[in-house]
Amino acid sequence: MVTPARDTAADQLLEYSKEHPEGDEESVTTTFGIPIGEKDASLTVGYHGPILLQDWQLIDELSHFSRERIPERVVHAKGAGAFGYFEVTHDITQYTAATVFSHIGKKTPIAVRFSQVAGELGYPDTVRDLRGFAIKFYTEDGIWDLVGNNQPVFFVKDCILFPSFIHTVKRNPKTHLRPDYDMFWDFITLRQESTHTAMIMFSDRGIPASYRRMHGYGANTFAFVNAEGKFNYCKFHYLTNQGIQNLTSEQAQKIAGIDPDFHTRDLYNAIASGDYPSWNFYIQIMTPEQAAKSPYDPFDDTKVWLHADYPLIPVGKLVLNRNPKSYFAEVEQIGFNVAHLIPGIEPSPDRMLQGRLFNYGDTHRYRLGTNNLQLPVNSPFKVASYSRDGENTIHSQGGTPNYHPNSFKGPDNDKRASALAPILPISGDAKRIDSGNDDNYTQPRLLYQRVLKPEERGTLIQNIVSWLRPANAVLQDRAVAMFSKVDLDLGARIREQLHSLTPHHVVL
Ligand code: HEM
Repeated sequence: MVTPARDTAADQLLEYSKEHPEGDEESVTTTFGIPIGEKDASLTVGYHGPILLQDWQLIDELSHFSRERIPERVVHAKGAGAFGYFEVTHDITQYTAATVFSHIGKKTPIAVRFSQVAGELGYPDTVRDLRGFAIKFYTEDGIWDLVGNNQPVFFVKDCILFPSFIHTVKRNPKTHLRPDYDMFWDFITLRQESTHTAMIMFSDRGIPASYRRMHGYGANTFAFVNAEGKFNYCKFHYLTNQGIQNLTSEQAQKIAGIDPDFHTRDLYNAIASGDYPSWNFYIQIMTPEQAAKSPYDPFDDTKVWLHADYPLIPVGKLVLNRNPKSYFAEVEQIGFNVAHLIPGIEPSPDRMLQGRLFNYGDTHRYRLGTNNLQLPVNSPFKVASYSRDGENTIHSQGGTPNYHPNSFKGPDNDKRASALAPILPISGDAKRIDSGNDDNYTQPRLLYQRVLKPEERGTLIQNIVSWLRPANAVLQDRAVAMFSKVDLDLGARIREQLHSLTPHHVVL
């Protein structure tokens, strides 16, 4: 049997023990802090007698244990987190008045969580999937959450399609198996706006070698507002300083068998040994005038903004230099919410973003409870709201009035936030407009013909074929037709390999 070598993470308990000299142990207590005289025995009547109901020590232990797990994230369940800082290296105050960017050299504490999208909590790290890359900025104006992925685009562009898409990459509800190749290809070929993201997922970047060796992208379009109230649209990019490195499908499969926590271990060990990963942070800016004339929809998250037209503007860097003190308290309970935007950063009409603005807070109320924002890892530095009480209230606001308006000096409108709220002219008929067929092939074609090197095209095709082979024949034909719309050569090569006589071989 192959087992992972001992590493820094494996020494965690030894380190703890070294930090606590012999004889320094604390007395063990119940969860309510009462010292315990005998930790390892239940209270029985005689040696073989039944356990007494008055054994509050046992009841405390068992009842807490049955409640140890909370619902896992409905997506992005498997992940790892770390802490560090964001430092401004370039002035972008001409675009935004957000205090996090107020001057060069400014440092803001951050928390980051990396994840896979589809697998559950125990799923192997090295699967072919998108990776989440979410950042929580603890700014003086409260929390700003930038909840991105390691791809600049996403499978669908209307939030109403998100649950259906996610169902196709999760377990089949009858067989409880995943991947279910028919579900996946059926959806992808019926909603061909997913072509672009699918192609990146099947490219070499579909399985990063580690969380440290991948880029991150906000993907959705946001807006910036500057001190004069002028707004521009923007996208966020964070590029790894460790260099991009990926795994082949074969490498990834082997690693999944030996060390399912490969990415988590890599991140923990790098930080524990002082090798702090960092990413340079960039923005792209599009003026409202440019947006109105853009040949592609700037609010469509299946498309990138071409760098030639909208170059990356350097802003700062992200550095991760602390591992979580407790995985559960600081990573499992962290809640990133796309609606957490600080003055100077606003949403755009991006339909995915609009749905996300609602969904994250909603899922946190279910997953973490009404007062999830009072958990230390999620807690903004100061809150002066008119909301009160609810399950697990920790912070109260004392005698501050709990209704607004009031005549008793309760918190009132913030002048700066009010000045920075942009006025958006909006008009149109309320209507359900399917946006799925809005030029789904030009950008994937650029990716295939201009961005990928010949050998990278080869692996892309191999990876697509290995996922298509287990799908039924109708779906295989539909997929070949879809990829042929991107590029005839791409479609032909997929068809040829699909029908070649190589043995049936599926690589994830
Ligand atoms: C309408 C579209 C979307 C919906 C409804 C949605 C919904 C969700 C939900 C419910 C969660 C679980 C959150 C939790 O339990 O804390 C989640 C997590 C996440 N989503 Fe989305 N999502 C959408 C699109 C996207 C897109 C486009 C991206 C990337 C650009 C993204 C990135 C993430 C990340 C990184 C996480 C994990 C956050 C963490 O580490 O805790 N999602 N999403």
